[in-house]
Amino acid sequence: MSESSTQSEAIGLGMIGFGTVGQGVAQLLHEQAAVYAARVGRPLVLRQVAVRDVGKAQAAAAALDIGLDPKMFTADVDAMIDRDDVAMVIEVAGGLAMRGPVERSLTRGKSVVTANKSLLAAAGSSLFATAREHDAAIAFEASCGGGIPIVTSLLFGLGANRIEAMVGILNGTCNYILTAMTQRGQSYDAALAEAQEKGFAEADPTLDISGRDAAEKLAILASLAYGIEIDVDSIPCEGIDRLDLENIALAAEMGYDIKLLAIAQRYEDGPGDAVSLRVEPCFVDQDMPLSDVHGSFNALSVDGHATGVTTYVGHGAGQMPTASAVVSDVLNVANGWYGQAFARLGAPTGRTAPVVTDELKGRFFVRLNMVDAPGAMAKVATVLGESGINLSSILQHEAAAGQVVPVVVTTHEVDRSAMDAALAKIESLRVIAGRATCLRVLDFED
Ligand code: NDP
Ligand code: HSE
Repeated sequence: MSESSTQSEAIGLGMIGFGTVGQGVAQLLHEQAAVYAARVGRPLVLRQVAVRDVGKAQAAAAALDIGLDPKMFTADVDAMIDRDDVAMVIEVAGGLAMRGPVERSLTRGKSVVTANKSLLAAAGSSLFATAREHDAAIAFEASCGGGIPIVTSLLFGLGANRIEAMVGILNGTCNYILTAMTQRGQSYDAALAEAQEKGFAEADPTLDISGRDAAEKLAILASLAYGIEIDVDSIPCEGIDRLDLENIALAAEMGYDIKLLAIAQRYEDGPGDAVSLRVEPCFVDQDMPLSDVHGSFNALSVDGHATGVTTYVGHGAGQMPTASAVVSDVLNVANGWYGQAFARLGAPTGRTAPVVTDELKGRFFVRLNMVDAPGAMAKVATVLGESGINLSSILQHEAAAGQVVPVVVTTHEVDRSAMDAALAKIESLRVIAGRATCLRVLDFED
């Protein structure tokens, strides 16, 4: 094949973003060029990369030393998308500002590969409709679970199933922080700084630690699993920013690890086909496989009515795992099969279903700061008893009389709403100082 015929037959790629993920994508396309050309039957060529700061991208490209031409970087996103020799657009810039460029690509019939969960959670169904209208596709494996092919598994591998439930660790930054606090006793702030340094965190890390990033991923996965549109703002979402080393030490003492979990359950007793979704830090029994998922790893357990539970584990964030998901999507789109499948994908259809928020029962861990005085525990126990809440364990370390000490109780199964009402009463007792910490407990009873 001559050089010019190779170039004319090539599939031209344009990319928006050259940060952690974008640089990983460029590296893979360079290192594996011959392999990918064989897999697709035509070479893939990165024609142009759009960024805000061209000089910064050129310096990063020089440091990568993979022969990228400095002239391939531009600040003109629209012109890059409009190039005749760009057939597919890779969006690895992130954020809602990418809606315009993604729509522009799709309306020109150019398929988009994206890692942008914020955009998909906010505008996925509208973008899917635009894509279909213009005979293009959106591929988004990298938006959930980093390098783990969970979108592909859910859409294609588990296509025969009714999905009963999904439970997972969907944010690498939070899992990295919790692991560092648990295993190394590292402070929350130092662990977050490390996660940022390693490129796991979002440009705005409050998206990670508030649980929002996991909620966006849960909204995407649940919309695929249940074929419904989900308003991400309706998902009850609690992050890890209120956890401290003492909570983690208490959990360990009781045989649990604290993990930020994203949970989806088909809600059988509710009206229609409601689904319960939530993101919250939970106590996970140390004997459960999810407690062995450490660092930036993610995991998703999916309960299909025919398969039973299958679990997917791997790097949930980071440069090369995420680049792997992006480039795999590029190959699937370039091969043609993904576009055909996308046209009929059981993804957001405009059908909505109520999100059940507070009715699901669970067991809970409650940490109180209690004045160590006669009758203090009895007062707490009275409120819990009157609320119909049955305790399964109590833990209090020895302290000098009159001091404030942490007291931990775990409960048997109870409605979250009953638990919250009881906590409000307990927090108003004079023997209780400050706010209680209340976390769901996940163990083999669930
Ligand atoms: P970075 O912050 O490292 O890089 C972002 C890149 O996008 C930079 O090159 C930036 O250019 C460019 N960019 C941002 N806004 C614009 C804009 N308006 N126009 C043109 N270029 C723009 O982010 P990541 O690589 O970490 O993440 C990219 C996407 O991948 C995000 O959606 C993220 O959520 C997702 N993701 C990230 C993972 C990770 O582990 N990092 C894992 C999974 C998904 P400049 O520097 O010039 O501003
Ligand atoms: N900030 C995200 C995380 C990146 O930490 O999981 C992967 O989506």
